[in-house]
Amino acid sequence: MRMVDLIEKKRDGNELTKEEIQFIISGYTNGDIPDYQMSAFTMAIFFQGMSETERAELTMAMVHSGDTIDLSEIEGIKVDKHSTGGVGDTTTLVLGPLVAAVGVPVAKMSGRGLGHTGGTIDKLEAVPGFHVEIKNEEFIKLVNENKLAVIGQSGNLTPADKKLYSLRDVTATVNSIPLIASSIMSKKIAAGADAIVLDVKTGAGAFMKDLDDAKELAKAMVDIGNAVGRKTMAVISDMSQPLGYAIGNALEVKEAIDTLSGKGPKDLEDLCLELGSYMVFLAEKADSLEEARSMLEKAIQNGDALKTLKTFLEAQGGDASVVDSPEKLPQAKFKIELTAKEDGYVSEIVADSVGTAAMLLGAGRATKESQIDLAVGLMLNKKIGDQVKIGDSLVTIYSNNQDNVEQVKTKLYESIKVSPSPVQAPPLVYATIK
Ligand code: URA
Ligand code: CA
Repeated sequence: MRMVDLIEKKRDGNELTKEEIQFIISGYTNGDIPDYQMSAFTMAIFFQGMSETERAELTMAMVHSGDTIDLSEIEGIKVDKHSTGGVGDTTTLVLGPLVAAVGVPVAKMSGRGLGHTGGTIDKLEAVPGFHVEIKNEEFIKLVNENKLAVIGQSGNLTPADKKLYSLRDVTATVNSIPLIASSIMSKKIAAGADAIVLDVKTGAGAFMKDLDDAKELAKAMVDIGNAVGRKTMAVISDMSQPLGYAIGNALEVKEAIDTLSGKGPKDLEDLCLELGSYMVFLAEKADSLEEARSMLEKAIQNGDALKTLKTFLEAQGGDASVVDSPEKLPQAKFKIELTAKEDGYVSEIVADSVGTAAMLLGAGRATKESQIDLAVGLMLNKKIGDQVKIGDSLVTIYSNNQDNVEQVKTKLYESIKVSPSPVQAPPLVYATIK
């Protein structure tokens, strides 16, 4: 086989075979196929697309380009959740304990990464003593005992995707549905998921700003999952404004505790119940989505969800008393209110620029070397559709440094619009794909 012939085949809109796709992915991973040929190939995919079969083959070729995690010693169906990313998305912190409380095994591999706030591990480290430096055997034992454990990313997972994603980033080929879908699905499958629930975000703060694009991506990922024997479902949810109120690490831990106690923001609770019922259903712990949802509602009401959170934190060295005394979480020195300058209704809270404001405070990393401040962040006091009067607080800023508060305030005033006439709140879930 010659790479040039395969580039030509795709360029002319023909379907590649399994062997051809494997040849390309293994050749690229081991360095036999150079970046310039791979660039031409991804551009050909960008224009010609890929068939359903090709997408599934590409995904599995990337899964097999590196290590895969074996979770077979964990009893039950391992369901993983993936979100395409947003601002102040506290769902992972809530969903882990929530679905574990009804018996779904959650073996979560997480990272730190760059962004508006830290990753799941950074957030959990706001709990004094909590750590993810546990051995694989310990991780598996904890999931079997408590149904929930979190471990840091290890091993050489999907090296083909890492290399390909960096190449796509500099060759204008990130934005291709078959390439995005196979990239995301390969990582979940390599991490050991038997079934997958996807939260595809749409709106100003999302990667897929347009609803039709979000639907197409969700459908592409569901088709790949089902084609390779991993039952997959997707929810398309709103990210035109941040989810919940909290954007920041300790603040989101507190928000997750509130939500698991049934006292959290309505939108966050609703989305967690929606995604959670899919997880419970795919784990075969309920016969229908309705039954799954009522099991989760019950776990919140009877305290099981909160109890699962405490057991989980304690098992990984964390001080579980933060659940009853959240003031033990890192606290910021200054609390500053951002007040409304006019009467009206909140019409816009541009999620990604609000996220950038949180990052300016130190809640997230701009570069790999940046230090995170777990205490700082933002609490939204109003959401789209809410009425406001001059002087009402729109946002509470939690800061440890007064030097850049003016810059943060300017950024927030630019991101939050108030309109004189009433505004309809956006829907939370636009569509589901099963
Ligand atoms: N996120 C991913 O993981 N992969 C892509 O290709 C795009 C977004
Ligand atoms: Ca939030």
